[in-house]
Amino acid sequence: MASTLPPLNPANVQGDILVGLPKKVQHYLFFQIDDDVTAFRKRLRLLIPLITTTVQVQDDRAKIVANKKKAAELGKAPELLRLSGVNIAFSQFGLNKLGIKDNLGDTAFATGQQKDSQGLGDAGAPDANNNFVPNWINAFKNQIHGVVIISGDCDLTVTATQAAVLAIFNIGAHITLHEVITVKGVVRPGAEKGHEHFGFLDGISQPAVKDFDTKPNPGQETVSQGVILCGREGDVVAGTTTPFTRPAWALDGSFLALRYLFQLVPEFDNFLKASADPTKGFTSDLLGARLVGRWKSGAPVDVFPLADNPAAGKDPLQNNNFRYDFPNDFDTQDRCPFAGHTRKTNPRNDLEQLGFSTENRRIIRRGVQFGPELTPEEVSSGKTHHGRGLIFAAYCGSITNSFQFIQQSWANNQGFPIQKPVSPGFDAIIGQNNQGPDDNGPRSMSGANPNNQTATLSLPIEWVVPKGGEYFFSPSIPALRDTFSL
Ligand code: HEM
Repeated sequence: MASTLPPLNPANVQGDILVGLPKKVQHYLFFQIDDDVTAFRKRLRLLIPLITTTVQVQDDRAKIVANKKKAAELGKAPELLRLSGVNIAFSQFGLNKLGIKDNLGDTAFATGQQKDSQGLGDAGAPDANNNFVPNWINAFKNQIHGVVIISGDCDLTVTATQAAVLAIFNIGAHITLHEVITVKGVVRPGAEKGHEHFGFLDGISQPAVKDFDTKPNPGQETVSQGVILCGREGDVVAGTTTPFTRPAWALDGSFLALRYLFQLVPEFDNFLKASADPTKGFTSDLLGARLVGRWKSGAPVDVFPLADNPAAGKDPLQNNNFRYDFPNDFDTQDRCPFAGHTRKTNPRNDLEQLGFSTENRRIIRRGVQFGPELTPEEVSSGKTHHGRGLIFAAYCGSITNSFQFIQQSWANNQGFPIQKPVSPGFDAIIGQNNQGPDDNGPRSMSGANPNNQTATLSLPIEWVVPKGGEYFFSPSIPALRDTFSL
């Protein structure tokens, strides 16, 4: 199938997938489609011209670069660029509601995230019918049909764009789309821009997509287009060459795993302080870096195991150039613990040395932080009083192959990576061991302390708390036109 396809046309692909909508603020408008489905589909057609394609995002990003360059030449602050972007994606509930009966061929997507939450390790309890109900906020316990992603340079732009989107679907009393919840993300201020709330630079390691990202940075792996886009070469069942069976309209669409993840920042910081041993050079900064796999600057511990290197951390030519293949890397935790977040979620040589490919496990991470900066009271009490965290968003050609597998079989699996001299333990950042109502079961990891690598470090609480989410499919522009709308 793949070889007879026309080459990828970026104008057909929604802009958040391959490039990422530029954003300082980003709203995720989770919605239900009203019973007048025909009216919804007609209105959706009117939304299509507003959907930001990959080509438009490339243009917007070029404008941002040119604006900064011009400002630098003039010695002035860059002019304010009003930019906004809109994308849309649908859940399995949404497809059902629209009457689109084709099977997209992804079990996790078809199941939906709420049913999948127990398998992902989220805390929760069975209801009267013995169905597992996660400890999510109520809005996400509704059936969510879709999400509109709205991004922009500031709150005002995004709020205005959201109003324009809603005005397309809801005219006067004729409502075709109901808002379930809008989750509002905002990039952190000042020097923390690009850093998630624990303080670490995020969004560094992304796969390059073949024949699209033609100049990968050193260490950045190039994956087949089908690892991210359905129907393209490499859209195969993991570990096989068997293509997934997808409907023709799925071509150039991508699955989207969205998670509303709260972060307990003061609690995490206090744990680092209490568990470090600075008199022996084991500082809380080093411990944090080893739990994540990178220093806060982004510098990878596999290359800079003893001290941060902020210049390398922000340099794309250096910050991803590692494979956990230094001599001793496979068997020791000298440089990076086996359970470090980046090593768990993309183990590179740990699997390749054993003859396994990681290509089909790769995801493109978008998403954005939400919530305020820490208050002085939170710092002094060591307790979270205000909700903050990460709206995690991962695009992939298969949720079952990648997002679900990474969380379930790698992050939550104490024995992964395999064939190590000691049990790696849980991913300290996202690993979950929930076994029932509010049961944050015990978690631990080995190798946190480079001076005592077989020692087990108990991880007393889960600092990342899932409170909602859903699996979506982000269709191509032709699919939106020919299959989703009327
Ligand atoms: C990388 C933080 C949730 C998968 C990273 C990095 C940080 C980070 C700081 C390193 C920067 C980079 O390489 O881009 C977090 C936080 C999370 C979270 C604070 C929750 C609040 C998740 C989840 C998954 C995930 C739920 C998937 C199940 C990954 C992957 C990488 C990564 C695949 C890239 C690893 C690599 O290629 O080296 N994360 N993350 N993360 N994270 Fe997360």
